[in-house]
Amino acid sequence: MSGRFARDDEVAAWRDDGWVLLEGLVDTDEIDAAVGDLRYVFPAPEKFFADPAAHRPPGRSDAELRRGYPEMPTTGPAFRPEQHRFRGEFPFYGSGLLTRLCVHPAVVDFMERALAATDLRLYQAQVSAKYAGDANFEQPMHTDRNHSFLPPRMEPPWWHVESFLYLTDVDEGTAPTHLVRRRDSEGRSTNWIFMPDGDPDLYAHEHAAVGPRGSLLVYRPDVFHRGVDLTRPGSHRYLLNVSYKVAGTDWIGFHSMQSNATHPAWTQFVESATPRELELFGFPPPGHPVWTAALVNETKEKYPKLDVEPWRRALPR
Ligand SMILES: [Fe+2]
Repeated sequence: MSGRFARDDEVAAWRDDGWVLLEGLVDTDEIDAAVGDLRYVFPAPEKFFADPAAHRPPGRSDAELRRGYPEMPTTGPAFRPEQHRFRGEFPFYGSGLLTRLCVHPAVVDFMERALAATDLRLYQAQVSAKYAGDANFEQPMHTDRNHSFLPPRMEPPWWHVESFLYLTDVDEGTAPTHLVRRRDSEGRSTNWIFMPDGDPDLYAHEHAAVGPRGSLLVYRPDVFHRGVDLTRPGSHRYLLNVSYKVAGTDWIGFHSMQSNATHPAWTQFVESATPRELELFGFPPPGHPVWTAALVNETKEKYPKLDVEPWRRALPR
């Protein structure tokens, strides 16, 4: 494994402050090898900036994305749909290295220690891109209310972790997420968003999560935060969004992983993965009662390069 495991004080900071930037959790070499796969998802920055209109995905112009939305200001904090123009869902074409970052050992280790559980599910996995000037990316202070049917309950076994793995260096000019420590947002309901003139104190306590690529920003779902604009002309920011929850919490979710079961990149991932890594997606582990000799054989037929011996050995005799 490249990179490092999180320190105990970092896990404690996630729990107590609500968020922490795990600087350099994954080595830059491993990030640089994986981002090659982004060429199948996003336009290269030099191509995009040469002709932005030509490189926006079909159906995702400002006008198309804003259809049905109320009028909103072009500047200042707002949730503009074009802020999310460039997104790509797991799994990813190419070498498979970008896909595999979702289950990087240092990422999974942090999730297990933060959530104090090992039966975890990866419930959100996507890459996002922001190019300076493509949209105004400034958002109001909010919590991510679109990961759960319920307001967050932040004790074991009900809690969950949201995270951004930085695929490019993030500095003050490239839209570092701004976050507030929990003790500085006490008393605010997570059901609401807050504008600067309505709660200047909340904005006065925000911190910019700047760090090199390979850093992992982890935050609790009750943490107030906001996206900001890219202020350096010609700059861009790529990140990988990976969120984990404890298995069995059906009210928490974001992406459906099963709808990718015939995606060639999913097959490639399965054939490169360990039983433990697959279990993070809900793939039944060896010894699970669903398995029969016939099902193991059919699964081998579906994923020819998967070593199914661990599943076969665990069949009841
Ligand atoms: Fe957010």
